[in-house]
Amino acid sequence: MKAAGSDGVLRSLELGRGNGASRIEQNTKSDQPLTSLLRMADERLMEVRDVYKYFGGLPALNGVSFSVRRGEILAIIGPNGAGKTTLFNVISGVFQPTKGKVIFEGKDITRLPPYKRAKLGIARTFQIPRPFAEMTVLDNVVVGMLANGGGSVSVARMKALEILEELGLRDKAGTEVRKLNVQEKKSVELARALAMEPKVLLLDEYMSGLNTGEVERAVEELKRINKERGITIVWIEHILRAVMKLAERVIVLNFGQIIAEGKPSEVANSASVIEAYLGRGMAH
Ligand SMILES: Nc1ncnc2c1ncn2[C@@H]1O[C@H](COP(=O)(O)OP(=O)(O)O)[C@@H](O)[C@H]1O
Ligand SMILES: [Mg+2]
Repeated sequence: MKAAGSDGVLRSLELGRGNGASRIEQNTKSDQPLTSLLRMADERLMEVRDVYKYFGGLPALNGVSFSVRRGEILAIIGPNGAGKTTLFNVISGVFQPTKGKVIFEGKDITRLPPYKRAKLGIARTFQIPRPFAEMTVLDNVVVGMLANGGGSVSVARMKALEILEELGLRDKAGTEVRKLNVQEKKSVELARALAMEPKVLLLDEYMSGLNTGEVERAVEELKRINKERGITIVWIEHILRAVMKLAERVIVLNFGQIIAEGKPSEVANSASVIEAYLGRGMAH
């Protein structure tokens, strides 16, 4: 499958890259103060550099490179089996890549275990939520906090209650998680991730299973979290309507490779993207 024909996306890709490169060049040439160069470097929160991940000889990720700007909302879309979850597993430390690097705030974290990455500020939710079903909502969040950062139980409880309040879950604090509906379970996942006070949130199909109204609410929620808490969001999503509303930038993965990248409207019009979805069936 070739990206040829996806003029809009390719053009924007080239423009995007060209702009970035020439900006740096200009800055260097015109003796811009070092602070402005440093600020530019600082804008890059995370970088995935030429990452490959093989499972039994088959590539789930086949040379993936991109960077994430501090504060942005980046959506990752692509057909089932494209390698999206594997990418999150490589970023969060569940898997080591076969080749390539993950850089976070300028530091090579490729070989760090997940808990150390969590301490640096990388939090995630899972495609299949993994709450402790028999425990209460509050205890789920508290346990997540204690497991990831230590600290006292009373402080953790206080912070957890604040987060539950913020997510509209305060009145469910004492409810066992297994009794919650899908949306509430997702919110508990989000609360657990937020409790770690992350710099970046990795959300794996956060909206799947939600109805239209719930998707709308989730979009607003993530928008608010991004804005008010300043948390960068990298978000795997199948619900394209939500992607169009929330994402500032979209990366499309197919067969372990990035086939398009750009603004949501550009990507939606890309021939290669349409082909990738139609060719393999729109997931979910
Ligand atoms: N732990 C694993 N062991 C073996 N193969 C895996 C594993 N995880 C993912 N894969 C394979 O890697 C490919 C990409 O999977 P995945 O990252 O889950 O895709 P997506 O999240 O885009 O649907 C698939 O072919 C899948 O079967
Ligand atoms: Mg997946």
